[in-house]
Amino acid sequence: MNIILLGPPGAGKGTQAQRLVAERGMVQLSTGDMLRAAVKAGTPTGLKAKAVMEAGELVSDEIVSGIIGEALDKLSPETGVIFDGYPRTAPQAESLDALLGERGRQLDHVIELEVDEDALVDRITGRYTCATCGAGYHDRYKQPKVAGVCDTCGGTEFKRRPDDNEETVRTRMAEYRAKTAPILPIYEARGIVSRVDGMADIDAVAAAIGDILGG
Ligand code: AP5
Ligand code: MG
Repeated sequence: MNIILLGPPGAGKGTQAQRLVAERGMVQLSTGDMLRAAVKAGTPTGLKAKAVMEAGELVSDEIVSGIIGEALDKLSPETGVIFDGYPRTAPQAESLDALLGERGRQLDHVIELEVDEDALVDRITGRYTCATCGAGYHDRYKQPKVAGVCDTCGGTEFKRRPDDNEETVRTRMAEYRAKTAPILPIYEARGIVSRVDGMADIDAVAAAIGDILGG
């Protein structure tokens, strides 16, 4: 099974992808996470991406489709994939079709997380992650069970993203509206789009996604 989680910044793509990884053994391919890893490692891709990401703009289609292709090549054919934050433009959607086709995969579901934009700034500015394992938290909506200790790995160091400030979030939302939302009709024409109320609480969103995926 190969699925796309689509939605604006802060919609809950990463949160729900982590649930699917834990509950269904799927693999999450987040271009945002992969680019942040490249920035941290100081690779040539990371050097190109850093300023673009900090401004909230989109990294080039060639770079992101390249890293998705490389990531797919590391997976066994039967592993289910969750695309989180990719594709984000019409050329990326076209590349994804080619990348999947070349590997004998097909796209089963595109799940759009529908959210109220006013809530997104609040979600994003309150977000932090475990510095050790990357598990995601929120100052109010998802706190660790024991304060200061990661539920998943027991780590005690947490970090915040440099692009998680209000000004950059507004640019990221504008990029989503202008370049990403317009790719939905491509998938609607194939009859594979489902919509989920992303304003519901995290468990309810996960249950709705589970209903769509079945089994
Ligand atoms: P990326 O990392 O993909 O960021 P994004 O799309 O802006 O999305 P976010 O990660 O901010 O939000 P999310 O939907 O994952 O929300 P989350 O689950 O964390 O991209 C970053 C940058 O990289 C881009 O700006 C661009 O520069 C570059 N890039 C990446 N991919 C690219 C591509 N394909 N092409 C070009 N450039 C690319 O949730 C947010 C918070 O809310 C969390 O704290 C969570 O706990 C909380 N929360 C989640 N769900 C709920 C809920 N239901 N109720 C209450 N709280 C909730
Ligand atoms: Mg994310």
